[in-house]
Amino acid sequence: MHQLDRHAGQSKTPAFRHRSSLQLFTARRTPRQGVKAATVVTHASTTPHKAHTTERPKIKQTPTHDGCEVYVDADGAVVPVMCVDYGFRSGFGRLNQGIDGEIPKNIVSLGWDNYKMEFRQLRKSFRVDEYQAFAPPSPNPLRKVFNTISLSFVKSLASLDVKLEEAGLLSKLEPDPVPEEVLNDDGEPIEAYKEMRAKLAKLRLDNAAVWEREHRREATPGWVAHEAPWPIRAAYLSICWVMDVIYDRRPIQRFWFLEVVARMPYFSYISMLHLYESLGWWRAGAELRKVHFAEEWNEIHHLMIMESLGGDQLWIDRFMAQHAAVFYYWVLIGFFAFSPSLAYVFSEMVEGHAVDTYTQFVEDNAELLKSIPPPLIALQYYKGEDLYYFDALQTAGDIQERRRPTCNNLYDVFTNIKGDEEEHVKTMTACRDYSIVDDLAKRKKALSRPGSKAGSSNSVPDPTAS
Ligand SMILES: [Fe+2]
Ligand SMILES: [Fe+2]
Repeated sequence: MHQLDRHAGQSKTPAFRHRSSLQLFTARRTPRQGVKAATVVTHASTTPHKAHTTERPKIKQTPTHDGCEVYVDADGAVVPVMCVDYGFRSGFGRLNQGIDGEIPKNIVSLGWDNYKMEFRQLRKSFRVDEYQAFAPPSPNPLRKVFNTISLSFVKSLASLDVKLEEAGLLSKLEPDPVPEEVLNDDGEPIEAYKEMRAKLAKLRLDNAAVWEREHRREATPGWVAHEAPWPIRAAYLSICWVMDVIYDRRPIQRFWFLEVVARMPYFSYISMLHLYESLGWWRAGAELRKVHFAEEWNEIHHLMIMESLGGDQLWIDRFMAQHAAVFYYWVLIGFFAFSPSLAYVFSEMVEGHAVDTYTQFVEDNAELLKSIPPPLIALQYYKGEDLYYFDALQTAGDIQERRRPTCNNLYDVFTNIKGDEEEHVKTMTACRDYSIVDDLAKRKKALSRPGSKAGSSNSVPDPTAS
């Protein structure tokens, strides 16, 4: 159950009763002046008379009755956008929220700011008891005992925090500011928020069915898992185990965890290729860096989609995912250093698992997903004006046949993510058996051919053209 629903009226600390349930989500800032305004997000047209425009995408306010956004894609199609963005980083930490290209502070300031924020979030996790998500009611006596002990421990930490705060040893814990756009005139969450939360809470993933898919994949002759030595299998199975046990019945959080970790192999490979270039040992991998960056760019968009659906709301989920990510980053550095081919075996297995998981999820929740509009970040990625990196990650097949998926609802979004993961599997296979060299050569040749669709409708407009 979602934080808002679960904690409403349950907090032991009166100051948090109302606001604790609201502090965990934010929404886009749209003006609230009488009739609510909707943001119409338009993108540079690709009709001939505007093909070479230097205009940036425009956002304009248009009054509507429900305050939701509408996205107008390059072909002029109008797509309603999911009304409320739910994640922890909503409003301040995502690429579509006005922070493009921001330069970080120095490492000391950045680390200190982060420590203060995380400490506050940790305290809050006790005070609003986020951990109930890990202790669902169970008939199993052992599980009951575990739930009782762990939840009492959290309660005692919460009361200790209150006592330290009252004694002046800890600062007063203020709830995060709640954007007024998500509240109605009575200070209650708007209907769009409640409806969307109710729908997202119904999404399910059948772990057993995912494993059946996995076993069918393993039975396929030539599937890479057969070649995986035990350290690779151990690393792979530990990720799968964490996701099955910790994220049982929480598919969006599971996907968020998966996407945080899924970026790490690409970070590792790029780091190693940079190292070899810095040492002057190897430069032939420069083109490969571009492919891995395109894959990482794709994964970060998957990650932001999961964040917009609320996958990163719990402190403990963020703690586990970030620590697992750092761990896997270094594990993959080690794998790549000693055997790039084996490192790619690991990636291929993880990407294959992602395909199975998303395929099962889409099948299990098809009707529900079709009733939910896509988040803005998904529209910007799949229907945006600049699809250069989206094209760069498709290394297999005919470059002339570019993927231009639809994105009209959440079903389309998850189907597209599944399609992306299939592309990752193909690329990892090509990296493992070194056929990526041929694929990239073919791609280059195809793009240089006269009549190539290199400057297709979704490419960046040429500012120098008259
Ligand atoms: Fe992904
Ligand atoms: Fe992937």
